[in-house]
Amino acid sequence: MQTKINIKPSQRLLNLPKYIFAELDDWKEQARAKGMDLIDLGIGNPDQCTPEPIVKAAVESLKNPKNHGYPDFKGKEILREGIAQWLEKKFRISINPKTEIQTLIGAKEGLAHLALAYTDPGDINIVPDPYYPVLSRGTWIASGEVYHVKLEEEKNFLPDLNLIPEEIAQKAKIFFVNYPNNPTAAVMTREYFKQLVDYCKKYNILLCSDLAYSEITFDGYRPPSVFEIEGAKDIAIEFYSFSKSYNMAGWRIGFAVGNEEFIKTLYAIKTNVDYGTSSIIQDAAIAALNMDESICANVPATYQRRRDFMIEGFNKLGWNLKKTSATMYLWLKVPKGYDSKTWCKTVLDKAGVVFTPGIAFGKYSDNYFRVSLVAPDERLHEALDRLEKANIVYSE
Ligand SMILES: Cc1ncc(COP(=O)(O)O)c(C=O)c1O
Repeated sequence: MQTKINIKPSQRLLNLPKYIFAELDDWKEQARAKGMDLIDLGIGNPDQCTPEPIVKAAVESLKNPKNHGYPDFKGKEILREGIAQWLEKKFRISINPKTEIQTLIGAKEGLAHLALAYTDPGDINIVPDPYYPVLSRGTWIASGEVYHVKLEEEKNFLPDLNLIPEEIAQKAKIFFVNYPNNPTAAVMTREYFKQLVDYCKKYNILLCSDLAYSEITFDGYRPPSVFEIEGAKDIAIEFYSFSKSYNMAGWRIGFAVGNEEFIKTLYAIKTNVDYGTSSIIQDAAIAALNMDESICANVPATYQRRRDFMIEGFNKLGWNLKKTSATMYLWLKVPKGYDSKTWCKTVLDKAGVVFTPGIAFGKYSDNYFRVSLVAPDERLHEALDRLEKANIVYSE
């Protein structure tokens, strides 16, 4: 007879709030079971292929037996040097490839591990809300607490530092920010970054900037790096990703840049849990960094084109969206009479179009929903047609 086992997962895992994306998957499965053809604009997964020079570099790298063993923990020297040159070219910042860069198995992994490396049970980290889930979940997994600062449209979705109580600022360990922002598409200014650097220095807080959307920018806009602010290296670390910039979400590679101490700490925790990014993927990343600008530019150009006709389409349906400068997302208000989940479920049932409820990004976002521009143009046009036919319109 088989013994029935009953081994409870850790309390820290059980304490995590439900992941709304899992519930969305259930909705989608049920709708598909009914035979519905869904246009999925829910997740932020790029729909375009990884550019050919990157794929080619990976294929070549795969043939080299030297790349079949464990990779170097920090990342290949040639990759770290390439990253430093890329940062110099993009942001005019000077980063030491030997001591100030750590490659990652994607920015998400690095962000979660940074929280784990610096947070003891009961410690407080600050996260603006709405937020990309791992920015809070990393802290919760470390049994820390998160203080959420509400982001408001009237304040361009930048956190109002005056809303943070003095005792929270005194106690806080890490301040996470993410601009260009997922989900709001808001962007950072250099002036605001300076205020944030001063604030974190005053309160001895590690400033963690998540710049995963650094290359998904439009109309000539360039986002600032925190390291453009003088003295930021004393307190900051910044995370970058290849996922969106080069359509490499499934390859799993990103990197962290910053203060030698923070990079060392991140390295220390990673050496205990992983072996770093596959050498083959690292070679692909080197090819990405060296790729012709004209190929790189296709990625944001596609989202920019989609942004234009989707904003126009939503505005015809009653919304009042302004042009975004970055990211592959639109952040829209939920019409009167709905919360974000009932609204997205209604749209799914009536039109077969999947959006993400704002509540998935935090408690302050239940009156918004997110649209990801991650389907071919013709499917996005079809989504707009379906919304119009189903009378999905905005009313205050
Ligand atoms: C704000 C933000 N940071 C980080 C990530 C994860 O990046 P990666 O794929 O490099 O783990 C995402 C992915 O959607 C994101 O939206």
